[in-house]
Amino acid sequence: MIIDKRFIDSFVKTTARGAYGASLHRGKNDKIAADKAAVDEMRKELNKIDIKGKIVIGEGEMDEAPMLYINESVGTGKGDEFDIAVDPLEGTNFTAKNLPNALSVLAVTKKGNLLHAPDIYMEKIAIGPNLPKNLVDLDFDVKKNIKLLTEAKNIKADKLTACILKRPRHDKIIKDLTSLGVKIIFISDGDVSGVISVADPNKHIDIYLGIGGGPEGVLAAAALKCLGCQMQTRLFFQDSDQKDRAKKLGLGDLNKKYSINDMVKGDVIFCATGVTDGDLVKGIKYSDDSFFSETLVLHESSKTNQILKNKIKK
Ligand code: FBP
Repeated sequence: MIIDKRFIDSFVKTTARGAYGASLHRGKNDKIAADKAAVDEMRKELNKIDIKGKIVIGEGEMDEAPMLYINESVGTGKGDEFDIAVDPLEGTNFTAKNLPNALSVLAVTKKGNLLHAPDIYMEKIAIGPNLPKNLVDLDFDVKKNIKLLTEAKNIKADKLTACILKRPRHDKIIKDLTSLGVKIIFISDGDVSGVISVADPNKHIDIYLGIGGGPEGVLAAAALKCLGCQMQTRLFFQDSDQKDRAKKLGLGDLNKKYSINDMVKGDVIFCATGVTDGDLVKGIKYSDDSFFSETLVLHESSKTNQILKNKIKK
């Protein structure tokens, strides 16, 4: 079942408004206020769309998130049923410090087609398009994955580039990549755009590796699905409480390795609007009564892959 293309504009407007809300807090050193503004704006816009929407990935569970909480109904309640994953502000630090690459992001599928990932860590590995299916695997060590990639691309390891979040938990992966001569591009936050970077031939990033947020993993998978890339993930539990939360969301096998199609089934729309200028899109700019936004919009069935520029009334 495909999602009608006519919904694209409404969802683009949703992330554009989220980004606008967050942009009012750029450089103010208050990531909570920035996030709240993005949530408020996004929610208002979502509730104007003629859909029966349900937030399946949001700001948290009902008791911890006043708005855009998991299971919250959004939309006017008229029309088709959709599952929606939102990250109203991906890169709260970036916004608070007015640094590049903050985004407002969402992904939409028909009801029942998005993995209900809890807000815990997730192991991630992603590679670009036009490579043999199931080439890399979270159960292989770094050396084996890099070897498989060099063979598939017919290049030496020292010609490969990996993208990774700079965190102490990644020290072993970083050491292994370095010993193989692989170039590393570190990101300080924002692994949705980090993962998506494997899709862009101009960025020359061959592989994304490491542990980041689960919700961000599903959002990135939605984008990579439209871009013909590969990704594998697995939830990374730190305690039994996290396991209980996953079970509450209906997840059975907690050690399951998810492919893109396990995380995102059927047709999908993905939108990411820039809050600050970044690798994917430019940030919000203002005029007296309007703001200007740039949104990466992807829609699998219509093969939409565009950067949309909008002028929207404040
Ligand atoms: P926030 O925007 O919620 O602050 O998340 C940013 C982010 O960098 C994500 O892109 C990433 O998945 C996650 O945080 C990594 O978590 P941690 O900072 O705990 O390593």
